[in-house]
Amino acid sequence: MRNDYFVKQMRAQQRWRLEDSVNLLPSENVTSPQVRALLSSDFGHRYTLPIDAEYAGEYLENGYRGTRITTDVEREAEKAACEVFGARHGCVQPLSGHIAAMITIASTTRRGDAVYSIHASDGGYDGYGQDYIPDLLGLRARHLPFDAERYTVDSRAASMEIRRRKPELVILGASFIPFPYDMKPLREACDDAGSTIVYDGSHVLGLIAGGEFQRPLKEGAAILYGSTHKSFFGPQGGLIVTDEKDANEAVRKNLVWRLVDNAHWNRVAALGQTLLEMHKFGSRYAKQVVRNSKRLGKELKERGFPVMFEELGFSESHQLLIDPKGIREKYGMSVNDFSVLLERSNLMVDSVARLGTAEITRMGVKEKDLPELADLFMAASEGRNVSKRVKSFRERFDMDYILP
Ligand SMILES: Cc1ncc(COP(=O)(O)O)c(C=O)c1O
Repeated sequence: MRNDYFVKQMRAQQRWRLEDSVNLLPSENVTSPQVRALLSSDFGHRYTLPIDAEYAGEYLENGYRGTRITTDVEREAEKAACEVFGARHGCVQPLSGHIAAMITIASTTRRGDAVYSIHASDGGYDGYGQDYIPDLLGLRARHLPFDAERYTVDSRAASMEIRRRKPELVILGASFIPFPYDMKPLREACDDAGSTIVYDGSHVLGLIAGGEFQRPLKEGAAILYGSTHKSFFGPQGGLIVTDEKDANEAVRKNLVWRLVDNAHWNRVAALGQTLLEMHKFGSRYAKQVVRNSKRLGKELKERGFPVMFEELGFSESHQLLIDPKGIREKYGMSVNDFSVLLERSNLMVDSVARLGTAEITRMGVKEKDLPELADLFMAASEGRNVSKRVKSFRERFDMDYILP
């Protein structure tokens, strides 16, 4: 293999995904030049002991030298997380949303406990299925009743179930999450049952940071956690925030040498920078994301595309859901084949029937641009290769649009 293989691949990737394509994957986003610089900085070469390492059970000397700046960076990133989410405690060590979930669940349960979450068939995160995190942590996975018509947890039925079964933990949040949850009745039921609620905000973290969607910590969740790279336009990674002293201490105990060692300090610095950007631009960004989802939903629906939930305003988040049956009827193919077809025109969508507006909003797309995008989308859906038009649409927007 030639010495420049990976650098060449990087250039090809950047050209394809950043210059030629329009990304409608709800799981992804792009970062600012400052975040990208921090990701490739010296912080990524170094070790330090995380600041709360004493929770590992004994007082630990930081055996690494040259760590003064790194330690400050972690502390300031935690402070920024508290400020952005209006929380008392913040933790920026989780290496991903999945690890943040494991830390949170390990910190709020004991072996043998019952954990309710949204079933994968209702758009819940696969990792909460019995065979995955619950199996690793010795938990019994149960599923919250779901209202498929309103695409949210059926709060009434779920409250009854929680009162009857008294699970130790209830996890809200999902991979398919166009609408918020009615948390008040769930909180009341959990109070009666002695259950803790935690909220996986992996998908909607950027909206929550911007004051949209819902405020999990104010509405009854003990812990909010998730990925920092979906609607939250940061580096790939995770974070955890809480108002509760006990929850914070439990989380800290599950970091060093349990679920984290090196927290990847370039990621932490980049996350700190994104938190500053969120503080400044988050509200404007989050509002525009939701407006773009609603408008893209309307434009696609008017063109006969099987986007769901028109009667509910299509979406309150960065996600639009597509009806897979509608794809089969209209285009005679599976959603997977449909996503491959769109990729030929450099329109990136996932194979599980979701569209996302976070990345295009991050790059400056507004409602007025969406009729044109919907036209391109429909043309590509009908099998025409519109990659040249997709590229010229993309060129009108700037990856570095939201700058501090
Ligand atoms: C709801 C939810 N939680 C957790 C995760 C895992 O996040 P990560 O990919 O950052 O590990 C995902 C990933 O898609 C998700 O959708």
